[in-house]
Amino acid sequence: SILTVLLILAAYILGSIPFAVVASWVFKLPDPRSYGSGNPGATNVLRTGKKGAAILTLLGDAGKGWLAIVLARHFTAPDGESTILIAGMMLAVFIGHLYPIFLKFHGGKGVATAAGVLLGLTPWLGALTMLTWIIVAFLSRISSLAALSSALLAPFYTHWLLQDNILTSTVLIISVLMMTRHRSNITNLLAGKETRIGK
Ligand code: G3P
Repeated sequence: SILTVLLILAAYILGSIPFAVVASWVFKLPDPRSYGSGNPGATNVLRTGKKGAAILTLLGDAGKGWLAIVLARHFTAPDGESTILIAGMMLAVFIGHLYPIFLKFHGGKGVATAAGVLLGLTPWLGALTMLTWIIVAFLSRISSLAALSSALLAPFYTHWLLQDNILTSTVLIISVLMMTRHRSNITNLLAGKETRIGK
C-alpha cells in the first residue's frame, strides 16, 4: 500500500540522520569525516577523546534503528505482525545510515544502527549481539573486529531466537552490507595496522 511505501521512505530518511555529524556539531568538534578513519560513527568520534560525543553518536545511531522497528510495529494492522513491513523498515533505516540523503549518500558503517534494529526486534537478540561485540572489543580492543564478529554471528542468533526466514534473511543482508563497508578495516586488520579503541 501507499502507507507501506511512505513508512519505508520515512525509515530511510530517519536512517539518513548522521548522529556522528550532529554530535560533533553539538560538542563543537571537527567533522568526523575529516580525521581518523574518516567514518561518521561513534568509534571515530571517540578518537577525539570526547566520550560524551561518542556516546551521543552511539545512542542516536542505535536509537534511530530501534525507532524504525517500533514504528513498523505501531503501523502494522491489528490483525497481526506484518513481518514484511518490519523487514522493509529495518533494511531502509540501515541503508539510510550507509547512504544518507543528507551526506550526499556517503554514510557510516552501520554498526550502531544494526544494534538498534536488533534490539528493536527482540531485546535478547540485541543483547546477545552486543555481548558478542563487547567480548571481542574487550579482548582485542579493536572496534571493527568486534563489529565484524557480531555481523558474522547475528544472522545465526536471529535464526535461533526468531525462527523467521524473512527476518533472518534481512539480518543476513544487513550483515553482508556491513562487512563490505569494513573493507578498509579488513585490510588494516590483515596488515596488523588497525587502530585500537582509545588510541
Ligand atoms: O563503528 C564502526 C567500526 O566498526 C569501525 O570504525 O572508525 O574504526 O573505521 P572505524
